[in-house]
Amino acid sequence: MKRILFVCLGNICRSPLAEGILRNKGVENNLDIIVDSCGTEAYHQGESPDPRSIAIAKKNGIDISMLKARKFALTDFDSFDHIFVMDKSNYADVLNLASSSANHRKVELILNLLETTKNQNVPDPYYGGESGFVEVYDLLDASCDAIINKLKNAL
Ligand code: 4NP
Repeated sequence: MKRILFVCLGNICRSPLAEGILRNKGVENNLDIIVDSCGTEAYHQGESPDPRSIAIAKKNGIDISMLKARKFALTDFDSFDHIFVMDKSNYADVLNLASSSANHRKVELILNLLETTKNQNVPDPYYGGESGFVEVYDLLDASCDAIINKLKNAL
């Protein structure tokens, strides 16, 4: 069983969407996975995902309305096998807390899973309009397909 954590800044826009998408694909593909998400900051601790993330997930048949934001914790390095971060700022913040090379190796920019994107950020849609959430959804959906393929090949 693999344990996968998604990390963004506030844990209300990007990472809860990734959590919902991957959990859904895990069920569809009959894979035994644990999926969670969190933020590098506690700005929105305990809050539901942004209504725009809830809406784009719902449009795609995924319910993320029950998720609650939390901050990344040091124990997450032990609790998860892979830590996928949304942007370079998240990457720097999480790596800063990694105390071993084993922990370092768990952390990866999520868009590096796609052949078309190298060292690129999932754009932060928080201050933009609805279209930003569509773009983010599509990037995360493709990235989660890549994760599913990796997991299938590792079995
Ligand atoms: P997220 O988006 O990191 O994808 O959840 C953000 C949510 C909130 C804020 C920034 C980004 N904020 O500054 O409150």
